[in-house]
Parts: sequence; structure tokens; C-alpha cells
Amino acid sequence: MVFAHEPVLLAETIAALAPPTGGIAVDCTAGGGGHSHALGEALGAGGRLIALDRDPAAVDAARARLADLDCAWQVVQAPFSELDRVLEEAGIGRGSVDAILADVGVSSHQIDSAERGFSFAADGPLDMRMDPTTGDTAADLVNHLDEVELADVIFRLGDERQSRRIARTIVRRRETEPFARTADLAAVIERAVGGRKGARIHPATRSFQALRIAVNGELDQLDSLLRSALAWLKPGGRLGVITFHSGEDRRVKRWFALLRQDCVCEPKGPTCTCGWHAQVRLPQGKGWTAGPDELARNPRARSARLRVAERLDVPLLPPSGARHAR
Ligand SMILES: C[S@@+](CC[C@H](N)C(=O)[O-])C[C@H]1O[C@@H](n2cnc3c(N)ncnc32)[C@H](O)[C@@H]1O
Repeated sequence: MVFAHEPVLLAETIAALAPPTGGIAVDCTAGGGGHSHALGEALGAGGRLIALDRDPAAVDAARARLADLDCAWQVVQAPFSELDRVLEEAGIGRGSVDAILADVGVSSHQIDSAERGFSFAADGPLDMRMDPTTGDTAADLVNHLDEVELADVIFRLGDERQSRRIARTIVRRRETEPFARTADLAAVIERAVGGRKGARIHPATRSFQALRIAVNGELDQLDSLLRSALAWLKPGGRLGVITFHSGEDRRVKRWFALLRQDCVCEPKGPTCTCGWHAQVRLPQGKGWTAGPDELARNPRARSARLRVAERLDVPLLPPSGARHAR
């Protein structure tokens, strides 16, 4: 199967991160290598690109896509929560990277490969692991979480208002037959919510999104990346994060908002006692979303938002202020 994935917000990302000729860039989510390739082209012959992805199939696809680049490049199979280890092992110095990108979520290739189990539209094993060699599958969660936990996952990570009804139906059904296939789960969820009733999206869309985020620990991964990335950037270096889900975007927005504040005293008094200072500037506060041409070409871009933070030339503070970012 060809690795089909059209990179979203490609021109906006390269313009906003502006990787300089001969510089160093890190792509935390190589996928099909679309963004990586464009970053590598901008870096040119004297540059260095480190790409990572936790999915071995994406690593293979990205390696094939990057083969014609002039810059030095490598693609490492690792989750981006291990960014520190990957960059240390690559011999990159802290404070020396010009651009870091994370285009989080799943690729079209992952969704379209029925055997990976991400899709309610094509039947496959109920898996959903980006790295299929480790961790619990979606079937493990659906068959073993208790009803309250399952409803909570579906509500919190899928914004699904019918989460309790769906969880109750799943738990009743698994008493007689555990879930093993995506189409079976999708059909049970569809029945639980009373069919499609002219809905714009399949009734299982939100539940499947929730399970995928839970299986891959995506919010924890994102938090970990946000905490580690800035220390690798040089002053003036930029971190770009593309998200596809309001819960993820909110995390990025709040984290960047915290890093750009001069003071986090609570309550605010006449003098500042927190010792906090701004560590980034945000070149475009609201970030970037896809324009009409891209939306017409690529419906996946509908919910994509790119946010960028630029490291200031100031000492970094330990991220203990993280509670303010929640
Ligand atoms: C939206 S796609 C990226 C597409 C890529 N920018 C391109 O141009 O082809 C997301 C990719 O990130 C990977 N991914 C998601 N979460 C990850 C994580 N925590 N660590 C490493 N890779 C991750 C997925 O396996 C998938 O290949």
C-alpha cells in the first residue's frame, strides 16, 4: 500500500518556522515525510534534520521520502516523549536547534490501513496502536475498563455527549462476546445512539477518536513534548505544533500563553513575587488554520491549527508553573 498522507498547512508551517540554510530542524512526527522533506529542503546541503515517529511503517515511509535530500538526515523510531534521549543520542546540543515541528494525531495512511484498526469505515482488528509492538490495544480498553472509566474516556477525549449510553451498551454486549473488530464496535455504538438519524458524521466517530487518544496516551505525549522542546531551541528558534482536536489545541494554547507571560503571581499584588518571566514570543497569537484552497483539496485540514512559539534570549525556568497551563 502506498503511504498516502497530504501534509496540512505545509506552506504556513515552513514560512512560520523559517528553518535557515545550514540550520538544524527536528520533526517529531515524520509520518509520510511531507513536512520533513520541506524542512530538509529549506536547510539545504549544510543542514541537519532529525525526524522521529513512533510508528515503524511511518519510519520506513519517511526514510523513502527523504532519500533525495541534500542535508544530513535521520529518521528514528521513538515516541516524542523521548525527544531528550533521541536528540542526546544524535549528539545535538541543547539550545542549538532552529526549528521543531510536531504535527500530532494520526496520518491518513494509519486511518486507511484497515489492519491497523483505527477505522470504523473499514473492518479490522480493534488495535489503534501507533506503535503496534507495545501497549494496550483498543480491544483491551473496550473489553476491560469498567463502565464509568469507559464513559469518562469517551466523554473527555471524544467530546461525546452520549458517552454513558455508549459505555453501558458496550459493557452489556461484552458480557456475552468480547469486542475484537472495528466494524462490530462501530455497529454497536451506532445502535446505542439510535442509528445515524441524518448525522453529519458517523455515530462512532467521537468514540473511536477517544479510544485512539487513550490507547496512544496522546495528551500525556503532548504535555511531555511541550515541556521538553523549548530547551533544545536556540534563542530565536521556533516550535510549531499542529493539532486536530480542541482538547489538544487548548493544551498548546495554554502552555504557550504561560510561557509568554511576565508574571504568574496569584493573586496579583503590587509587587511581583513569582520570579517568572516570559520565555517565548508568539509571532501569531491565534495561530494558522487552512485556507479555502487547502480545505477544498484536503478535508482533513478542516480542524487543523498550527501554533508557533519563538524562544527568547533569556534563561529558561523549570516548568513547575505547569499547573497554570491546564
Ligand atoms: C498527522 S501525521 C504526520 C504527518 C507528517 N507531518 C507528514 O507530512 O506526512 C502524525 C504522525 O505522528 C505520529 N505520532 C503521533 N503521536 C506520536 C508520538 N507521541 N511520538 C511519535 N510519533 C507520533 C503518527 O504515528 C503519525 O505518523
